[in-house]
Amino acid sequence: MFACSFMRDSKKEFKASLYSYFFSRYKTLMNETSPNHIFPNTRLRRTRSAGWIRNMVRETNLAPNDLISPLFVLEGAGREEEVESLPGVARRSIDLTIEHCKEIRDLGIPAVALFPVVEADKKDKTGSESRNQDNLMCRAISAIKAALPDLGIITDVALDPYTTHGHDGVMRDDYIVNDETVALLVKQAMVQAQAGADIIAPSDMMDGRVAAIRKALEENKFYNTMILSYAAKYASGFYGPFRDAVGSADTLQGNKKSYQMDPANTDEAMREIALDIAEGADMVMVKPGGPYMDIIARAKTSFNVPLFAYHVSGEYAGLKAAAANEWLDYDICLAETLLGFKRAGCAGILTYGAMDMARLLQGQ
Ligand code: PBG
Repeated sequence: MFACSFMRDSKKEFKASLYSYFFSRYKTLMNETSPNHIFPNTRLRRTRSAGWIRNMVRETNLAPNDLISPLFVLEGAGREEEVESLPGVARRSIDLTIEHCKEIRDLGIPAVALFPVVEADKKDKTGSESRNQDNLMCRAISAIKAALPDLGIITDVALDPYTTHGHDGVMRDDYIVNDETVALLVKQAMVQAQAGADIIAPSDMMDGRVAAIRKALEENKFYNTMILSYAAKYASGFYGPFRDAVGSADTLQGNKKSYQMDPANTDEAMREIALDIAEGADMVMVKPGGPYMDIIARAKTSFNVPLFAYHVSGEYAGLKAAAANEWLDYDICLAETLLGFKRAGCAGILTYGAMDMARLLQGQ
């Protein structure tokens, strides 16, 4: 309400509208806690007393449209391998990925996020294969687009699946150099855009990469190719199973703390998000999800762009492992976690449980 006044009005009027906003909030609060509104006049359990009324007063809803399925793609044909540390998730060759994408589309999930499993002999120090316009990722993008034109395709921009050291950028004297990496990430993003990616998702955390990718997209007339930046991505222990899935767990030398964020920081996350928006991101992401709900909630109140959370591999694996021991109910806990992201302000969630959740929502 007063955000609009802020745009239009003079400073004095803005002050007055702020005052009236807070006064009305204060009045509501006083009213709700006045003697007429306390127990037994107010019994909050009334609106929890039956399913139909709980459904009616529910403030947040989750739908298949809110979900994005991350997928791991393999070379070859007819190949499907379970990922041991991610029960229910498989790596698939392109042909089987397409079949899988049909199921995803039929469940009403609007988009998939692709990650390649790069063969060891294609890895090198600078991740050259990431810039090959005929690499696994590009072939997967164009094949899925041809088979399912209405399914959104999100592609990861970072060098880690392609480097022998498992880092997201170029390493010099044990340091991941920024500007040289950005130049390579731009090339990686461009081969993905040319192959038909709808949304470019840089997950590397280099400074200035969103601006550089946006500039290249504009110059090459990819006016509608979106950028979803992994804006606030923390150096997290929860990425473990993902690194198993893409095969970078064994190769990773050291840690990613010189580019991914310190889990202790909040203000810095807001600065990362503000910069990425200014540089041309259409959407921003917080990652991991659950342990960073406060960052999501603060980003929602601070910015007006679509906000996404990545419910990452370790979070999903934790739910699955506890459920396998019958320590908790997977369906209930998955639904509760994903609803939490919506409640905190997310427009959507990347989760390995996307298909499970969509089936639950459809009562299947
Ligand atoms: C690569 C990348 C990672 C994830 C997404 N993109 C791993 C990492 O940064 O080490 C993690 C996703 C997950 O754990 O589910 N830059």
